[in-house]
Amino acid sequence: GPELAALVASGTVDVPDFPKPGILFKDLMPLFGDGPTFRKVVDGIVAHHGPDSFDVVAGVEARGFVVAAAIAYAVGIGVVPIRKAGKLPRPAFSATYDLEYGEATLEVHEGAFVPGQRVLVVDDVLATGGTAGAALDLVERAGGTVAGFTVLMELDFLKGRERLSPRSVHALLTV
Ligand code: PRP
Ligand code: MG
Repeated sequence: GPELAALVASGTVDVPDFPKPGILFKDLMPLFGDGPTFRKVVDGIVAHHGPDSFDVVAGVEARGFVVAAAIAYAVGIGVVPIRKAGKLPRPAFSATYDLEYGEATLEVHEGAFVPGQRVLVVDDVLATGGTAGAALDLVERAGGTVAGFTVLMELDFLKGRERLSPRSVHALLTV
């Protein structure tokens, strides 16, 4: 609700021209660094989806890891990392996508999920939706069923939600 949106807004610092000129970087590290705020945000995500609606949490490297691990711990379930290319030690599925500022590849281990396991996919920010689209595809290719996709902040003008349609997106704050 509005209280969580305000917490996300107050915990975010806008950094102009990072990592490239013209990009306004949304830095959520102040939110991560504030214990009571971080806990309210994590608990709010769990309450929105319902703790019984997913079996495992998948987090997108790197900033998604912070939120995903906290949600998993709060519910008492596991976390699966979706990693940037070349980091996983065992055979993995790959998905390459265009980013607002470049191109990237994400990977997840083959067999990362029990077939049909319900997966809550988590990242900090939804921008163009390239990252999220790749992550959601990887979860399904690795045998999971997407139970939801949550971000702390959605950048509406980049139309990520439209790109991911008909998949639904939950954002604590839309700017
Ligand atoms: C940022 C952010 C999201 C992604 C959103 O990650 O954390 O993962 O961009 O952008 P998109 O919707 O346009 O794909 P980044 O790739 O900068 O890496 P990081 O999380 O490792 O910092
Ligand atoms: Mg990221």
